[in-house]
Amino acid sequence: MEAENEIRSKRYAADISSIREAQVRINSFIHKTPVLTSETLNSLAGRGLFFKCECFQKGISTDHVSKISGNHAAALSLAAKLRGIPAYIVIPENAPRCKVENVIRYGGQVIWSRATMQSREDIATRVLQETGAVLLHPYNDGRIISGQGTVSLELLEQAPQIDTIMVPISGGGLISGVALAAKSINPSIRVFAAEPKGANDAAQSKNAGRIITLPETNTIADGLRASLGDLTWPVVRDLVDDIIVVEDKEIIEAMKLCYEILKVAVEPSGAIGLAAVLSDSFKKNPAWKNCRNVGIVLSGGNVDLGVLWDSLGK
Ligand SMILES: Cc1ncc(COP(=O)(O)O)c(C=O)c1O
Repeated sequence: MEAENEIRSKRYAADISSIREAQVRINSFIHKTPVLTSETLNSLAGRGLFFKCECFQKGISTDHVSKISGNHAAALSLAAKLRGIPAYIVIPENAPRCKVENVIRYGGQVIWSRATMQSREDIATRVLQETGAVLLHPYNDGRIISGQGTVSLELLEQAPQIDTIMVPISGGGLISGVALAAKSINPSIRVFAAEPKGANDAAQSKNAGRIITLPETNTIADGLRASLGDLTWPVVRDLVDDIIVVEDKEIIEAMKLCYEILKVAVEPSGAIGLAAVLSDSFKKNPAWKNCRNVGIVLSGGNVDLGVLWDSLGK
């Protein structure tokens, strides 16, 4: 209760009440995703691992005009379809094909932009003016953060022995929700972000004590290229214990392990949590030795099969 009150007093964009309310609102529309374990992966990591399979979620992830993040865009398309309203999705021309196909499958109307943030912003602004739609940001929005926080509530209910949670980070919505919920329930839980080296703006931001944006990013984890927002940064700054940065080759190895051992197809951005837990910077850090039971959010399963085979061959 004390932790809950302390977090509440900071007035972040979401809190345990908004997360619990979101859970009630979305409950009948989503799957309760399973938590998988594997003795083989436990021995590789030297700890207990609990894989929260959000890659099995409807709409493919926990999340109108949406500026793609692909998984957010598919989820919004599905939500709009259920409400009987249109969803206009601004998608950059370099988005993975399977993410575009998911949007179309769920009835979203695809509007193409160039790959730059500026082009996405300009086209989204034009669509808003032309259609009167409302912009739903993929992470810098208290409602989205609250929805993402429900992953934590479910995970801690399914595996109460968890003392650590590892979460992929892009714009920081998912980890903000997860950290706010988990630390309100149990302030001693550690929450770590997993970030690709080629888009390590969140790690740089934590070091610098302010939001850093990168002029360009280069990583196989296409879902993790965004920068922190003004609503997610305070949560990442205050409640995320550390950011574990991994190379693309570690992400590919983690995808392989998910596929071969868990029998789950996870996209690069979704598999990065396993890569982080297996990385030397986490395993060999004496400060994290007592992280015994780690929840890993497998956040997305949108894999272009061709790209997967190419990556696995590397
Ligand atoms: C598969 C996957 N996992 C995690 C994230 C991280 O989301 P956030 O921007 O909330 O940090 C994303 C973002 O699009 C994603 O696509």
